[in-house]
Amino acid sequence: MCGIVGFTGRLQAAPILLDGLEKLEYRGYDSAGIAVAAGGGARPDGTAEGGDARPDSTAEGGDAQAAGSAAAFARPDSESAIEIVKAKGRLKVLREMTDDGRSVPGTCGIGHTRWATHGEPSVVNSHPHCAKNKRVAVVHNGIIENYQDIRARLTKEGFTFLSETDTEAAAHLLDKYYSGDPVEAIGKMMFRIRGSYALGILFADRPGEIYAVRKDSPLIVGRSEEGNFIASDAPAILRYTRDVCFIPNLEIVKLTGTEIHFYNVDQEEVEETFSQVSWDTEAAEKGGFAHFMLKEIYEQPKAVRDTVSPRISEGHVNLEELGMSQEELAKISRIQMVACGSAYHVCMTAKYMVEQTARVPVDVDLASEFRYRNPVMEKDTLVVVVSQSGETADSLAALREAKKLGYRVLGIVNVVGSSIAREADSVFYTWAGPEISVATTKAYSTQLAAVYLLAIGLGRAKGVIGEAAEKEMTAELMRLPEKIERILEEKERIQWFANKFSYSRDIFFIGRGLDYASSLEGSLKLKEISYIHSEAYAAGELKHGTISLIEDGILVVGVATQSGLFEKLISNMVEVKSRGAYVLGVTSYGYYSMEDVANYTVYVPKTMECFAASLTVVPLQLLAYYMALGKGLDVDKPRNLAKSVTVE
Ligand code: AGP
Repeated sequence: MCGIVGFTGRLQAAPILLDGLEKLEYRGYDSAGIAVAAGGGARPDGTAEGGDARPDSTAEGGDAQAAGSAAAFARPDSESAIEIVKAKGRLKVLREMTDDGRSVPGTCGIGHTRWATHGEPSVVNSHPHCAKNKRVAVVHNGIIENYQDIRARLTKEGFTFLSETDTEAAAHLLDKYYSGDPVEAIGKMMFRIRGSYALGILFADRPGEIYAVRKDSPLIVGRSEEGNFIASDAPAILRYTRDVCFIPNLEIVKLTGTEIHFYNVDQEEVEETFSQVSWDTEAAEKGGFAHFMLKEIYEQPKAVRDTVSPRISEGHVNLEELGMSQEELAKISRIQMVACGSAYHVCMTAKYMVEQTARVPVDVDLASEFRYRNPVMEKDTLVVVVSQSGETADSLAALREAKKLGYRVLGIVNVVGSSIAREADSVFYTWAGPEISVATTKAYSTQLAAVYLLAIGLGRAKGVIGEAAEKEMTAELMRLPEKIERILEEKERIQWFANKFSYSRDIFFIGRGLDYASSLEGSLKLKEISYIHSEAYAAGELKHGTISLIEDGILVVGVATQSGLFEKLISNMVEVKSRGAYVLGVTSYGYYSMEDVANYTVYVPKTMECFAASLTVVPLQLLAYYMALGKGLDVDKPRNLAKSVTVE
């Protein structure tokens, strides 16, 4: 997820772009850049201006990269050419370089704040990207799934790629197709790229004009007396206008300082309506949600889709990015998973799922334990470190311990270029986008998806599952996002229940098999944001002591999706209910006998049982969220916690 902003009109563009990008840093913040059509235009106070003399600039890309500079200027190379300024790091680096934009002349420009997905954070990978002759500059939010194919073909045609990004493929395609008609060139590009995109585009010979197009990634147009805007999200432009249009999918937009034109995919001009954004800036940053946590819960379908679909083609899982051959995958005799917190619960789920699908034994350790227990592991063990931030000190230390012992390490990480990503031998990125809320939700769900893909790929490499099973599983994986959406549509049932129990003192979660792993995550979510004491227990273990804590009115949440264990779990729920517990059942549609024992039941759509954790976790996230809300707590920033625990 990245942030895009564009402005064309009577005012100097660069300061406006930087203001807008600042409001979009929640969408990504590892690097930023702007491209401005140089020359002409207005001073910050709106009066006419000539361009300021530009300090000698470093050529973009190679030279800047070689110089190791944290920033680069690309000097205009023709009268109406484009000036590009980019910097690694937070937006303030770009601000300092450009005197808050004042030193970059021009009244038409685009800007970008990046959340790296392809290519680690660096100047050369930051946006805008342009073709070699800077005829076209592009900023992009989304994932171009077939960029490698495009890159290979265009390289053969003589195009030179500077970055590792998917976005640069779009820039070169536009350059290839552009022969004077921007809308036509964009239309041709749209037919070649696959995936999700919101693009802001400048053509050097079209000063004052911005073009934009979107497919599945958000992009809006804003209009005002001073000029017109594009943005990934309303917060970027609320300071200037509330008069916006949410660009329909697959439409192309042309903006000048005074006009806005929309074109459909057949390049016919169409009319679109504008509406008023009523949100304040803070609410807008949360997309209208009350908290980032709720917004991120609702982003899970897209996050899972973005993580899964680029790795599945024609029903087959593609794990090439691990850099391991089929033979190397087949040789893996054991998997040692290591993580902390919620990521550890992903590992617990993985144990059940990978052992069922690939018949490879999986050991799971807390990173803080693994790093000190001088582990004994078999020769062909693959160590898998799971971490959203990629900076968790215990997990990083465990990775280094495993490498010191000579084992291959795979990192499942959400932050591109993070320490764990850089030090692992192989990396499998989850594409959840920036996760702002301390309590993880969408990153957790994408880690589960990553584990499923690994299990299926491993199962195929080892011949444990055949092509038919693989296709059945990948087809179901592709259906998980819509099933998560269906659960979210019924959030009121969970909200109502949570409000009844917001002031509980102790809450227990029980489950068997991978439902136990889901119970662990439900319990942690609740504890960390509602401050209610909670424990998760393997349901069969309750009778060995903990059941003594069950008394009248205690809430016990039973998670049951595994057919072979369902009746057992029902018995455990009867055990606690007969001792006074109030029982909430979380199960799949079809298991209606749950209502014979549970006081209240929440259903999730049926799925392959090995994927059930991706669905049961959603009501558990919502339960925790609404309980914390009911107590009036700071859901996004719970006391004592940090988003990334970079200390021991
Ligand atoms: C999860 O909601 C918590 N914020 C915490 O347990 C977290 O999962 C843990 O600190 C691991 O973080 P990581 O995934 O960034 O390594």
